Amino acid sequence: MKASLTPLTVAGIMSGTSADGIDVALVRIAPRGHGVRLELLAHRAFPFARPLRTAILAAMDARAIAAAELARLNWRLGIAYAEAARASMDGTGLKPDLIGCHGQTIYHQGTSAPYAGRSLACTWQLGEPALIAAACGVPVVSNFRPADMAAGGQGAPLVPLLDFVLFAHPKRARVLQNIGGIGNLTAIPAGAAQEEILAFDTGPGNMIVDALSQQLFGKPFDRNGAIAARGKILEPVLRAALREHFFRQPPPKSAGREQFGAAYAGRFLAACRRHSRLREDAVATATALTAESIHRAVEAWVVPRTGAAAIDFIVSGGGARNRTMLAMLRQRLESLGCAVTTSDVTIPVEAKEAAALALLAWQTWHHRPGNVPSATGAKRPAILGQVTYV
Ligand SMILES: Nc1ncnc2c1ncn2[C@@H]1O[C@H](COP(=O)(O)OP(=O)(O)O)[C@@H](O)[C@H]1O
Ligand SMILES: [Mg+2]
Repeated sequence: MKASLTPLTVAGIMSGTSADGIDVALVRIAPRGHGVRLELLAHRAFPFARPLRTAILAAMDARAIAAAELARLNWRLGIAYAEAARASMDGTGLKPDLIGCHGQTIYHQGTSAPYAGRSLACTWQLGEPALIAAACGVPVVSNFRPADMAAGGQGAPLVPLLDFVLFAHPKRARVLQNIGGIGNLTAIPAGAAQEEILAFDTGPGNMIVDALSQQLFGKPFDRNGAIAARGKILEPVLRAALREHFFRQPPPKSAGREQFGAAYAGRFLAACRRHSRLREDAVATATALTAESIHRAVEAWVVPRTGAAAIDFIVSGGGARNRTMLAMLRQRLESLGCAVTTSDVTIPVEAKEAAALALLAWQTWHHRPGNVPSATGAKRPAILGQVTYV
């Protein structure tokens, strides 16, 4: 059954691998021609309470954890999402018709590996949707990633549909680089159809910088890149890190704390300490790893695909505020013809991922696919997620 397309106000709720907090975007979505029209009505960010952030990070990094702990975390996150959604409604006077909630990824394995006699990929997002639906009196779409994986995809990235809707341009090649905990990009050649989009994770975003800032300076992140600006890049450490398999692997590919979490940060710091006693140098080198891994990815896979001499390179996510990271990126990407910006009139960069969840929920509500197979590697378009009705 095909549902007829209706304009809806949709709240998208996103919390990424940084585990810094929850973003809520209220978006008006309406059909337009063969596509959709999207207008951002409001955006709010809610940092996680400290004990909740601690619990999330502990669960993500755990080698062993009690089932009871995971069950409680699922419900505790449901409460946090419900409160954020309610606060967005009360604070703006807007009531959504539908909510799309990504949930908190505590484990994501995009490619198959042997387990209990079979080979499988898997993913798990926590945050009980029934609590959100009950608190807001609105149906909730959640659990977006599995349907893409059941169709043979990696379940990530899911933002490319929004990137395409908002940024595709008939004459200009565009790259949308998000720097959250992980870095990911969407490349849209000039005049491209949706099937021609290239999207993949570039590697760490802020994840390693955050871990080192916390461990060495007692700060959850390197505000504006001030620490990295005082340090120098330890070139041998950077070169060795870039030899890692992930960076050389062609797309599609996805990464998370499984690759670049606490264990990785520990090894990275040990390598830095063999070359320098200055704490700032470790943070500068981690910052450079993000910039240089993006540079290499653009050179190896994006430029050949877009074939363009000039690329609009739009940076979003919390990393867009790290001035040192951005300067490193700009310096490296200019020679590839990329004009790097962090501002775009279409949508504030902080709100983009949450707005993407709103669009995915709207698609699902209308029985329409939300994945972009060329981005995730899926064999076919898939309708994503499950609906919790009120
Ligand atoms: N002013 C800032 N200066 C430097 N880094 C920042 C700043 N604000 C946010 N960040 C970084 O952005 C991260 C959050 O980015 P976000 O896009 O929300 O990522 P995610 O999607 O993984 O949650 C923080 O953990 C921090 O590293
Ligand atoms: Mg975040």
